[in-house]
Order: sequence, then C-alpha cells, then structure tokens
Amino acid sequence: MNFRFEAMCVLFVIPLAVIGQEIDVVVPHETRDVKMPTGDSARGIPMPDGSLGREVFRARRKRLMEAMEGGVGVIFASEHIGGRNRQNMDFYYLTGLAYEEGAALVLAPEARLWREYLFLKPVNPETNIWDGERATLGRAMELGTGFAKVYRTGRLPRVLAGAVRNSDPMEMVYLEPVAGYSSPKPKPLDVSQKVVGQIPGASVRLADRLLPRLRQNKEKAEVELVQKAIDITGKALINAMQSVKPGMTEYELKLVIENTFRANGSRRPAFGSIVGSGPNSAILHYRDDTRAMQDGEVVVCDVGADWEHYAADVTRTFPINGKFTPRQREVYNTVLRAHRAALARCKPGAMLREDIHMAAVHVIEEAGFTDKFPHGTSHFLGLEVHDVGVYDEPLTAGTIITIEPGIYLPEENIGFRIEDDVLITATGYRVLSNHIPRTIEEIEALMAKGGNR
Ligand code: GLY
Ligand code: MN
Ligand code: MN
Repeated sequence: MNFRFEAMCVLFVIPLAVIGQEIDVVVPHETRDVKMPTGDSARGIPMPDGSLGREVFRARRKRLMEAMEGGVGVIFASEHIGGRNRQNMDFYYLTGLAYEEGAALVLAPEARLWREYLFLKPVNPETNIWDGERATLGRAMELGTGFAKVYRTGRLPRVLAGAVRNSDPMEMVYLEPVAGYSSPKPKPLDVSQKVVGQIPGASVRLADRLLPRLRQNKEKAEVELVQKAIDITGKALINAMQSVKPGMTEYELKLVIENTFRANGSRRPAFGSIVGSGPNSAILHYRDDTRAMQDGEVVVCDVGADWEHYAADVTRTFPINGKFTPRQREVYNTVLRAHRAALARCKPGAMLREDIHMAAVHVIEEAGFTDKFPHGTSHFLGLEVHDVGVYDEPLTAGTIITIEPGIYLPEENIGFRIEDDVLITATGYRVLSNHIPRTIEEIEALMAKGGNR
C-alpha cells in the first residue's frame, strides 16, 4: 500500500487580500494517490465512492449554493448504514460519501472564507476494532474528502450559529422534503429551528425544490452510470427469459436475475426484485416468491441492478412456456400501445401526469380496460429507484423517467407491465433500455432460443 502524501499537495493558496471576492478558497484537488488502487479508504479517511471524482461532488455543492441564494443549509448523513439502510442520498449526491454514518454537511454560500464544511462523528479508538480505523482530522482528511474544512460533529452548533449570524438576511435554508404532520420532525428542520431560535431576527426559509431539481437533471456521467445499471439488468432479463420453464419457482427465476446482476459487477439489486407469476402477475408489488410457475401463465419481472448507487428499473412480462396465448397477446399489445403513446409525448416541456400518463391511460381506456391500470405511468429514476424530482414542473432535458403502463386482470390470473427507462433529450427522448426485448415477436424469438423447454 503505497500511500504518499508528498505527491498530492498541489494546492491553490489564495492570498488573504483576495478573500471576500467570489473565489474558491484552498481547493483540495483531485489527487490520484488519495484513493488507493484497491479502492480501500486510505487510513480511515472517508472518500467519494465510485468513479466520480471529488470535483464532481464539489461542483454539485457549488450549484446548490448558487441556487440557495444565501442563508445556511445543513444536510445530515444517515445515522445507521447497512442492511436495508442506505446513506441519505442527498448527502451522498453532495459528498460522494456512501458509508459515513452520523455526519453532516453545512453549506454557507455567503460566508467570507469557508463556504462548505463536513462534520464527522468523533473518533473512538476503542471501536476501531469493530468498525475499522478512522482517521484523525487534518490536511489528509481535507484532501481525501474533498472538503476545505472538516470538523467533528461537536462543533456543528457553534459553526451553524456563526454562519447564520453572518448571512444576510440571517436564515437557515431548509433543503429536505416537507413531511406530513404525523411524521417525526426531520432532523435538519429541528436543528435549523433550534439554531434560529437562539438568534433574534433569524428565520428558517423553505427551499425543498432545489435539491430535487438538481438531482433530476442528470449529468452526462450519471446517465452513463444509469445506463450501466440498465445494461446489466437487460442481461439478467434476457437470462430469465431464456431459462424460465414450467415447474420453476419464482424464487429460482429471481436467483437467475440477481445472480446475473452480481456476475456483472453490480453490488446489489437497486430494489426488492418483483417476480410474480400467474395470479401474482396481477399484484403490483408482489414480494413472496415461492410459487411454482405453470404452463400457460405469464410472469412479471420488475427488476433493476444497482451500479455505483444508481438504479435501473425495467419490467418485462413473458410467457412461462415461451408462447403468449391469443388473450395474452391482446392484452399485452394494448399495454404496448399505451407504452408507445406515452413515449411519443416524452420531450422537454411535457408534464408527467397531464401529458405522458394521460396518453397511456387514454389507450388503455379506449381498449376497454378502464380501472385496470391503477398506478402512474412514470417516476423519476436515479440514485433512488423512485428518485426525487419535481412532478409539477415541465420536464427538462437530462431527466430520466420510467414509462411503465400495465393492465391487471386478477379475475383472469394475468397481469402485464412493460417498463422502460427513458432519458429526456433536447429534441425528445432516448429509451435507455431499448435493447431489452419488448415486443411479442422479440420475446418469443428470444425464448425459442432458450433451449430450456
Ligand atoms: N419497481 C417499482 C416500480 O416500478 O416503480
Ligand atoms: Mn419497476
Ligand atoms: Mn418503476
């Protein structure tokens, strides 16, 4: 492990005279040697996870600070990460720190010197043997994390008070989602209110659209990460179509899919895979997977790999025996027509519900399946499978959405959903999952090559 700090210290040192102007102070540079080739964190220094460099996360913080137009924002990392608990994706989006628990990020766009701070949990040498070594503060920590100022969380109250005192008007900016009244008060709101409660004349300003807007508009590199997740998901669905056969359990088919994810480098499914056959194909979020699939039925596979914390979300519905029945063809092709009608409306300026969803609803209702399509046609996709974004604003280029109409007929033990992931482009759209067989002809041709039946 050749970890040398001497080589990394190419810093902009800004003369004091220019402080206060619109400049970046003491920028920690992207340095190759902070990240060791093995991908391990260097000496317990938390560093951006994945292939996006520190500069990408810094640039996002800068964009958010511009959008904040003053004030002070705080975003907390998740308290516990592991199992089903992921990092708070707003915190990840702005820091790249996927596994740092109990941390906080402070943005103070009007500050004269430090405009962004990272606060980390205290180091406890006695827990190192359980959790791994954690580095002490210093220059290496600043270079590794990409933050000009890294403190322990104990300093958070004082830094927040000082930053609000120096903002004009004196205010905390609440950046996270507004919760319903029966939910516990979100920590950043609680903290913001406590901070301004100590400063006469200070207030909390709501700015809950800023982060969803930023996260909705994907950078090119983010689209590539989602594309990678989709490509792996496509391989898994093709494997599933080629290996399914009567008698196989839903669980076995799920294994084919999730094993393909892992074999292709995905660290986890982006959400709980849905594999529902026969009557279960008509259950939207079917979670059990014990049923043996029967000749003549269809199976809905709604699955997505994770790639560097970005999600794919693709659904294909196919016949267990490789051939759709005439009734299945009729319903399937109605869903496909709804899918095409929704796609045709995808472009900048379109509204998700009014334009895209209603186009799909119209086709399904015209075909006599009113009330058989109980869910929405689209959601945003990105770091989360149901990603953040602004549903009541027109779409913009760079947004990734799903198009996923369905028809569910529990009385006939059949359900069909076709789900694709679509990038809104300057001139219209691009279906990122277009290469995954979708039409009846494509699916039957692929399944005929399966060799399993
Ligand atoms: N996989 C859940 C959904 O399609 O929204
Ligand atoms: Mn899905
Ligand atoms: Mn979806």
